[in-house]
Amino acid sequence: MTSNFALGIDIGGSGIKGALVDLTAGDFATERLRIETPQESTPANVAAVVGQIVDNFADQLGDGAIGITVPAIVQHGVTLSAANIHESWVNCPAETIFKETLGRDLVVVNDADAAGVAEVGFGAAKGHPGLVIVTTLGTGIGSAMIHQGVLVPNSELGHLQIDGYVAEKRAAASVRTRENLSWEEYVPRLQRFYETVEFLFSPDLLVVGGGVSKKADKFLPDLTLRTPIVPAQLQNRAGIIGAALLAVATSAHPDGRR
Ligand code: BGC
Repeated sequence: MTSNFALGIDIGGSGIKGALVDLTAGDFATERLRIETPQESTPANVAAVVGQIVDNFADQLGDGAIGITVPAIVQHGVTLSAANIHESWVNCPAETIFKETLGRDLVVVNDADAAGVAEVGFGAAKGHPGLVIVTTLGTGIGSAMIHQGVLVPNSELGHLQIDGYVAEKRAAASVRTRENLSWEEYVPRLQRFYETVEFLFSPDLLVVGGGVSKKADKFLPDLTLRTPIVPAQLQNRAGIIGAALLAVATSAHPDGRR
């Protein structure tokens, strides 16, 4: 029997968070458990914390699927980059390490891809039939491209070169905080990013996620784009919900896995 629940785990720079997800409701079925990310956030150290989270939910999860997000390119379970995490994630067989540590099957996916899948499944882009690009503005800029409900994984639009800069080094939410930028100073940076994305991909809908999306009224009305642009709805639940959804989708189609 297929379980209606899956476990989503979101690995971030400061916290590793997990919750059981009700796949029909597209929402948490339990409280969220958060454990600090280890100081040295190597795959082995992080896997140990992930193990604690899985243990915590093991009884309720049964043989349900497990999805884990990381802020890195993930191809066939191997993490290929480490823009804002420990460098030992580059070319790391993360999925195999987690499987061996936990002794059970699971899926590792990019954090923004998970957030995007959640927003299209149950959030700001629910059921959208066209091309949706979800961006997460946080420490870096993550992106998910979803066309007619199908994810094109690892789009990494935060690493576009714009005006001689890697986009996320100018326009991530962390840069606004670090450089103490006013909204008037920050908006032109977002404008350059989103108009470039719009020109390259002609999306039907842009969704802005990440913590700063709670303040969307401070910057979205000042962007000049032909594409509708809306704040994400699932906020900090998106990564966990999307990880759970992708875990189930990937188990159902293992040959088409990311
Ligand atoms: C990484 C992406 C990640 C994003 C958000 C970027 O720096 O390259 O893989 O999705 O940050 O965490």
